[in-house]
Amino acid sequence: MITIAIANQKGGVGKTTTAINIATAMAATGWKTLLIDLDPQGNASTGMGIGSEDREYSSYDLLVDEAELCTCISPTNIPGLDIVPATVDLSGAEVELVSVEDRTARLSSALAVHSGHDICFIDCPPSLGLLTLNALGAADTLMVPLQCEFFALEGLSQLLKTVEQVQQRFNPDLGIVGVVLTMFDRRNRLTDQVADDVREVLGNLVFEAVIPRNVRLSEAPSHGLPALVYDHSCAGSRAYIALARELIGRLPEKRKAA
Ligand SMILES: Nc1ncnc2c1ncn2[C@@H]1O[C@H](COP(=O)(O)OP(=O)(O)O)[C@@H](O)[C@H]1O
Ligand SMILES: [Mg+2]
Repeated sequence: MITIAIANQKGGVGKTTTAINIATAMAATGWKTLLIDLDPQGNASTGMGIGSEDREYSSYDLLVDEAELCTCISPTNIPGLDIVPATVDLSGAEVELVSVEDRTARLSSALAVHSGHDICFIDCPPSLGLLTLNALGAADTLMVPLQCEFFALEGLSQLLKTVEQVQQRFNPDLGIVGVVLTMFDRRNRLTDQVADDVREVLGNLVFEAVIPRNVRLSEAPSHGLPALVYDHSCAGSRAYIALARELIGRLPEKRKAA
């Protein structure tokens, strides 16, 4: 299984929207996909239509109680897409894990078992705390959603510093599969300028696929559906399908057997 953390310590940049829709696109392509909700707000779980009554086992159990991965996985309504949902308990996990010796390795240990999935996406919370460190410790590679706004690059350099520390301390093989520009509005000159700047600084690291600002993407979660199911032909869905195609092209060859 290849594991991809979707992280950016800024809130509201499109992490969860990206996690839900790229996971759905990969499942639709035939990859057995697992989505792990690692944000106490549980937006990925809600957006996938997982009600609170269906969250008996969650990512909290995985991290804090060392529950088996298979116990914590629930199916979604999308064929080939499973989820480990999140509950508000997870907000206490940062504190509960502080005194634990392997506190940054909990998720990595939990994912070491064979669950039958080809690919796993981890939706991170908007911070660089222990939850995100667990995701970076467990991940093969990182995908960074970046909103095209003025301070985007500043936040990114902080994230890249954290990635370096994670590589030095506990996950030397952590890669960065790419940066995806989100909420792009081509009528707004600032977003255009920021997108150009980001591409100039980061070059090929930036995915060619750009996620436009699209109202269907923001409506879909309130129906408990990925945008790809809610309206598969809207501009946002098409962008996530293009992103999935590009992502597959960036994965190591042996992993593309699926
Ligand atoms: N491309 C987009 N177009 C329009 N709205 C979006 C888009 N991406 C995300 N949103 C909306 O913006 C808000 C923040 O997105 P979200 O994915 O939850 O960010 P994060 O997980 O980084 O906090 C949500 O209300 C979401 O529906
Ligand atoms: Mg989120």
